[in-house]
Amino acid sequence: MFVRPLSRMPRSAAGPSMKTFRLQLRFLVPLVVILTAAAYLALPLMDRLTLRWFARDLTMRGTLVASALSDSIADALPDPRGRRLQALFNRAVQDERLVAMGLCSPDKKLLRSTPKFPKDLDCAGAERIAAEPEPLLHIEGGPVHVGVYPVQAEEGAVGELVLLQDLSFIERRSKDTRQYLIILIASLGAVIALVTVIVAQLSWRGWVSGTRALLRGEGLVRPLVGAPAPELAPLADELRARLHDLEDEYRRAKGPETEWTAQRLQSLLHTQLRGDQVIVVSNREPYIHVRQGSEIVVQRPASGLVTAVEPVMRACSGTWIAHGSGSADRDVVDSHDRVALPPGRSEYYLRRLWLTPEEEKGYYYGFANEGLWPLCHVAHVRPVFRESDWQEYQVVNQRFADAVVAEARSEDPVVLVQDYHFALLPAMVRKKLPRATILTFWHIPWPNPESFGICPWRREILEGMLGSTIIGFHTRFHCKNFLETVDRYLEARIEHEHSTISFQGSDTFVESYPISIAWPTPAETSRWLPVEQCRRNIYERYHIPAEQRLAVGVDRFDYTKGILERLYAVERMLEKYPEWIGRFTLVQVAAPSRQVLEEYRAFQERITQTSERINARFKHPGGPVIRLLSAHHDHNAVYELYRAADVCLVTSLHDGMNLVCKEFVAARDDERGVLILSRFAGAAREMPEALIVNPYHVEETADALHRALVMPEAEQRERMASLRTTVREFNVYRWAGRMLSDAGRWRLRERIAERVQRHQLE
Ligand code: F6P
Repeated sequence: MFVRPLSRMPRSAAGPSMKTFRLQLRFLVPLVVILTAAAYLALPLMDRLTLRWFARDLTMRGTLVASALSDSIADALPDPRGRRLQALFNRAVQDERLVAMGLCSPDKKLLRSTPKFPKDLDCAGAERIAAEPEPLLHIEGGPVHVGVYPVQAEEGAVGELVLLQDLSFIERRSKDTRQYLIILIASLGAVIALVTVIVAQLSWRGWVSGTRALLRGEGLVRPLVGAPAPELAPLADELRARLHDLEDEYRRAKGPETEWTAQRLQSLLHTQLRGDQVIVVSNREPYIHVRQGSEIVVQRPASGLVTAVEPVMRACSGTWIAHGSGSADRDVVDSHDRVALPPGRSEYYLRRLWLTPEEEKGYYYGFANEGLWPLCHVAHVRPVFRESDWQEYQVVNQRFADAVVAEARSEDPVVLVQDYHFALLPAMVRKKLPRATILTFWHIPWPNPESFGICPWRREILEGMLGSTIIGFHTRFHCKNFLETVDRYLEARIEHEHSTISFQGSDTFVESYPISIAWPTPAETSRWLPVEQCRRNIYERYHIPAEQRLAVGVDRFDYTKGILERLYAVERMLEKYPEWIGRFTLVQVAAPSRQVLEEYRAFQERITQTSERINARFKHPGGPVIRLLSAHHDHNAVYELYRAADVCLVTSLHDGMNLVCKEFVAARDDERGVLILSRFAGAAREMPEALIVNPYHVEETADALHRALVMPEAEQRERMASLRTTVREFNVYRWAGRMLSDAGRWRLRERIAERVQRHQLE
């Protein structure tokens, strides 16, 4: 469920006043009901009370009347026809309150009564009623009060006087009182309700605005006049955290708005690039055929470039031109040096180009990997520039450029040039295919102008690259360095606003395109073993005790990857937090790379020795702390390791992007595991939820490792889920899609410009 921040919540159609009114009603109606009910319950009680008060009054009045009449009654009694007594009684009942009266003899016989005296009321009955707490009797004219009073004469009691006094006035008064009371209670209720609503509304508004302000962070950072009450701060924190949680959950569950997929990339090719041919050029080939005894096996090289570009190529079809470096590569190609790939699926062609040992030595090992690699990485290894290497570099670039031209089926193919091995190729292809769209992607960092300036052929390199339509780097920072380098060493016009370089009549667009991986499809993930199984497999394979924590590193043996610094960090962590001795293992996969070069061989040797030294220092029955696996591991083996690990360490001293960290995140569909990532890898800009470290600062990395090992599962999940959202969204199809969309726009603009020019000439 998506939850908007409160500050941006839409007002309901009825508006806030309507909402408030409804709120008030919700409060008022029950209040009125309660008060009315209370009134109706109270009224009978009141009636009874008043009745008792009046009964007491009437009894007293009756006593007075009886004593006032006693003498007259005693005088009138001897009259045998009773006329005097009747006349006395008739006079007495002229009092409007006295309805009727009768005289009872001492032996309870009714001697005389007035006309309205009830026929069915005898002396005993009257006495019984009079003894009740509410001495009431309903007769024809209404309710009457019944009282029985002794009639005293000088000689003693001569009888009892029964007085029936009018009570209807009490009913009338009670009715009036009831009305007044209802009016009083209703008004009281209305006043209470009004006061309550005003108070509630004021505090509700204050609460809402206070909470909104707090959610915006105002109340917490600037204590202004009218700022929300401080007591709301913890509540706002909690509320904000919950809203963010819900938003995050929603984003994770829903995925990106318009996800980049292989299909989307294909359709983009057909719409924006009219289905034009795509040709990829790289040094490293996506699949290597190797002879093992009498068998030919297919290997995937340990290469970020291949990891990223291969799925794109499968989506785009076309032709990939690369150096055929495998021992059995020649055995599987056709007469045009082509092989259909991936094996068994034939989604694109790989055109293999063969290099002589001299070419490979000068172009690949020499100029590319001893010159440009350390030049661009600034990893404190001196670049070596040899004239002979430069010559080979030019020759091989020309050979690959010729292969591109030979493979092109039209005058305007889309050529994707990969990496620092082919800095000269764009201009070479442009010369033969001026209408080609050439996208060059530089997979490694670009240094600042001063650092680049030490290259003796800096001008040639820049001119070669500017044959491209678009030059892409991983980060804006590398783009900026490149623009500044061109500005420093070439006579070119740079439009910083549009990030374009005009050089010798043609324009090149420079942009950042952060590379990524193809997010695993459900078909792939369904083939993965459960995390627990992967863990059991790895622990059994390397004899790691079950209670140990596991960190992994997956790299080529390359001095830029910070493997040595990683080992020092492990050593420091064990010194600083000795509780991990015997409870922690680092499995370090290091694929041999560029072994012809002394620098690389020495590096591998140093890593091996350092691992052994650390293992000897922290020797423990639980096994060695560092398991160095100096061999190439295929995709499945690496993913099994990622899924088994508690921590993944990526500590590059400098890296264009680094895709190991993205692969680790993609492998953790259980949302567990912690990524430790170097701030000097391009990926650090996209993945702040990792524990970011400076690998040169061994202490910091050691602390991060300890922190990763003790990180609560909830925090791991929080970080990992967010990383997974980023990598899934910013996948390699998006990388290629953005570049190809830009290329499509560029081509359209050029076509329009050409048409305009033609019209002008006609
Ligand atoms: O990721 C950087 C990168 O230079 C890739 O471009 C290259 O494929 C990879 O390192 C491995 O290098 P190599 O192809 O020389 O083994």
